Amino acid sequence: MLLVAAILGEVSLFAALWASSSGAIPVVPERRSIANAAPLRILPLGDSITAGYLEPSGNSYRRDLECFLYSGGNGVEYMGSLNSGDWADNLNDGFDGQRIDQISVEGEPEINGTTKANIFLVHAGTNDMIQDANVQNAPRRLGQLIDKIHGVNPTALILVAQIIVNNDTDINDRIQDFNEEVPNIVTTRSDRGVPVRVVSMAAVTVDDLIEGTHPNAGGYLKMANAWYPAIVQAGTDGLISPAFGNFTNGGESSMPTGGGACSELKD
Ligand SMILES: *[C@@H]1O[C@H](CO)[C@@H](O)[C@H](O)[C@H]1NC(C)=O
Ligand SMILES: *[C@@H]1O[C@H](CO)[C@@H](O)[C@H](O)[C@H]1NC(C)=O
Ligand SMILES: *[C@@H]1O[C@H](CO)[C@@H](O)[C@H](O)[C@H]1NC(C)=O
Repeated sequence: MLLVAAILGEVSLFAALWASSSGAIPVVPERRSIANAAPLRILPLGDSITAGYLEPSGNSYRRDLECFLYSGGNGVEYMGSLNSGDWADNLNDGFDGQRIDQISVEGEPEINGTTKANIFLVHAGTNDMIQDANVQNAPRRLGQLIDKIHGVNPTALILVAQIIVNNDTDINDRIQDFNEEVPNIVTTRSDRGVPVRVVSMAAVTVDDLIEGTHPNAGGYLKMANAWYPAIVQAGTDGLISPAFGNFTNGGESSMPTGGGACSELKD
């Protein structure tokens, strides 16, 4: 038995090496620790989509994402001024109905605070598009928000979403125009060395929405599945510095109640 185990071990090691050098699908666990298992203190920053409005659990993408990160081997602590969700670590800055400029002001206590996030997840702009509020300048406002965050959190990773689709055609046209500008806003900064990256939420479709604006549980899972590889990639690219200061790992609370993998989470 020992010999068999040893041979199997050799074979899987070989398979992993072969796969990674040949460009084939790598033989790696689905979840792995990121940035040498750095503690991740995350500020989910945005509007009601970040809060999980209309979803019965109010979890948004946040519980799924924490489960992915924690089960891969990272400590996770969400921060924010609001609570929403059916697990313990449910703090967030998902400000209901707020535009980018308002999110930027309401989020200041967390953006400026002495307890620093090392990852910001920004999904902002939906209310600018719904209200048709000076939408031509919305990308510029997003840039100002990124600059504000980076100014006081110079080592923090900032992930910026191309925001989710809307079922209203006029609103969605504005969203798509906005989303087209987001990569420019991000790359003008990342080219200067700012640890900021864009994350597409295009996997979410109108079929994943509850009432045309907010995702259902399946839509939120797609959002988690969009943030997660962006965080993995940022770790690989050396863009994640460990969270500092007192750290309370809330990751365990995100796991399915009664055990099991993250895929057991219902919402
Ligand atoms: C946050 O910092 C910015 C600039 O650094 C400042 O303009 C703003 O007043 C601060 N807000 C709070 C609530 O501390
Ligand atoms: C999207 O809009 C169409 C046309 O108004 C409507 O029939 C459909 O129910 C809407 N779907 C959602 C998820 O709101
Ligand atoms: C960390 O937490 C401990 C216990 O709550 C507290 O005494 C200490 O002041 C905290 N340190 C910082 C830097 O916040």
